[in-house]
Amino acid sequence: MKIIFIGDIAGSPGRETVYELLPQVKKEFKPDLIIANGENASRGKGINSSHLDKLHKAGIDFFTSGHHIWQQRDVRPRMDEKDPLLIRPANFPSDNPGKGWRIIETAMMKRLLVINLHGRVFIKDHYDCPFRTADRILEENSHERLDGILVDFHAEATSEKVALGHYLDGRVTAVFGTHTHIPTADLRVLPGGTLYLSDVGMVGLKNGVIGVDKDPILKNFLSQMPVKHTITEEGETVFNAVYFETGKEKEAKQILLDMEL
Ligand SMILES: [Fe+2]
Ligand SMILES: [Fe+2]
Repeated sequence: MKIIFIGDIAGSPGRETVYELLPQVKKEFKPDLIIANGENASRGKGINSSHLDKLHKAGIDFFTSGHHIWQQRDVRPRMDEKDPLLIRPANFPSDNPGKGWRIIETAMMKRLLVINLHGRVFIKDHYDCPFRTADRILEENSHERLDGILVDFHAEATSEKVALGHYLDGRVTAVFGTHTHIPTADLRVLPGGTLYLSDVGMVGLKNGVIGVDKDPILKNFLSQMPVKHTITEEGETVFNAVYFETGKEKEAKQILLDMEL
């Protein structure tokens, strides 16, 4: 199974960059599945129902998310559909809308279990333990016929991400980090065979601050007063993703592209 996992898509420049670059990326890698983290797709805050459909139509088969997911209310009912396009972290309170994992089937009848988890280090919310949540989901799915298991760990601290990678090493196909919007240079196969990357990065403004305009952010750092985040629609953007094929994890590679909108 050939898979492309795309980092957090950030606002309109992120979506436009996906529309522009995904056709050539698909042509080059011929993936069976394309998955993306969609938590920032609509103005940086969640993903609304219309953007979910447009990005799906553009070729993204499935979406994971993170803490921003509740900021667009119209997508919530979509998360409780029978075969939802979008999941939220599994260690959120269990009565939240949506689910934290799903088995996706490719056109060739291959089955991939996708698990979304949220970190707790340097995060102000009080989520359940991501390590024990992963154990529970793997146990629940232990009788399923699966061709791969992919974990999106949406977390701030590289320590927590590396630790989860080792914790799941040999039990899942890949553990990819999201949330920091900055791609890390540590793509590797762990001793037990699990493919690991601390952060995939993002798709969005290259010269902002993790996907939003830099000026309000600088004002916030200097004044310590609240500011309104804005996202300029034009300029240089990045497209950060990772490509891998199950069974050939050593040949995985990061896709780090730039373009001008
Ligand atoms: Fe994000
Ligand atoms: Fe995030």
